[in-house]
Amino acid sequence: MNHQATPPAPLPVVMQSPLGARMRINGRDVDYFCGTSYFCLHGHPRVIEAACAATRQFGMGPGTLAQMQVYVALQDELQAWFGAEHVVSLISGYSSPMAMLQGLRDDFDVILIDAATHYSARDAIPTLDRPVHSFRHLDAGSLAEELDRYVKPGKRPVVVTDGVFPSSGALAPLADYRQAMVPYEGAILAVDDSHGVGVLGSSGRGALQHFGLEADGNYLAGTLSKAFGALGGIIPGSQSLADKIAANAMIMRGASPVPPAAAAAAIASLRVLKETPAMRANLVRNVSHVRAGLRKLGFVLADTPVPIVSVRGDVDFEQLRLQLDAKDIVVKVTKASGYSDAPDVPTMRLAVFSEHSPEQIDRLLSSMAELL
Ligand SMILES: Cc1ncc(COP(=O)(O)O)c(C=O)c1O
Repeated sequence: MNHQATPPAPLPVVMQSPLGARMRINGRDVDYFCGTSYFCLHGHPRVIEAACAATRQFGMGPGTLAQMQVYVALQDELQAWFGAEHVVSLISGYSSPMAMLQGLRDDFDVILIDAATHYSARDAIPTLDRPVHSFRHLDAGSLAEELDRYVKPGKRPVVVTDGVFPSSGALAPLADYRQAMVPYEGAILAVDDSHGVGVLGSSGRGALQHFGLEADGNYLAGTLSKAFGALGGIIPGSQSLADKIAANAMIMRGASPVPPAAAAAAIASLRVLKETPAMRANLVRNVSHVRAGLRKLGFVLADTPVPIVSVRGDVDFEQLRLQLDAKDIVVKVTKASGYSDAPDVPTMRLAVFSEHSPEQIDRLLSSMAELL
């Protein structure tokens, strides 16, 4: 029998309070810099109350196919947020790039996809029955080369990418992609903007708004599970886009909607964000505070408003994570190639929230300075 002691497995992060910038994890109150709830709306009292009230009123849901007032109210709220004629809603953000691409299927002949695009769009590709070619991650020059190589005269490409990449926080150069697409009549851009909606753009409509690309031929699929404090996929656009999605994407016929609780949570989140412009302003302030502070520590970081800040360098990040954890600061280390867009070296992924106080950010930065 082998009596050698095995080292204890690292304690998983077990949340014991609603999500927040300061929250309870594994029996301790900690500063939390992980995840995707950029405004901490999942833990907002109004959002929690809305979800509870909707469950009391409507139960867990309508079963597969039925309508409830809460979904109509969510449609109104989303149309107002996105300034869109219609916003398709479905069960998950993961399914929304699939529904968007299936809806657009008759509008493209060949697919060009960033090599590090999220699993959600990749899983959709085989359902589209179109040739697919990758271009180098974030590289508009590579896109131009692949378009030139693979798009025959008269054929229409779709360019598929994340707007914000989930591990690295890199912002796709969408304006450069559009430039590369100019020679191809009817070319369309289809963005998984799960991490951009709510956060980017002058009014939080996402990466297309950020780049001034809200125009015909540019489409986004997003989620309610990150900035918007709830759960569910969304695809804002025209009524004609919604009709195409209804016609082509079988998930719209054969799957249940989100529970009423999630729809009501999203409505409350959208209202809180709209009524409290300071939340979006604080997120911008906090993102630049974190990025500037890390630069002072010697890390090289892009100057973007993205609240995912990926720290790379010649550092033992797992050791650093454990040392920060001992100071009740919880951060995430992404393993080498451990996610769709993760680089081939370990990185520390910090999520910045509107609800982090400047003092919390200073404590993170000074702790890192002390430990590095
Ligand atoms: C880029 C991207 N797309 C889609 C999803 C799936 O979203 P959801 O968790 O809301 O289903 C994620 C989830 O992390 C993501 O990072």
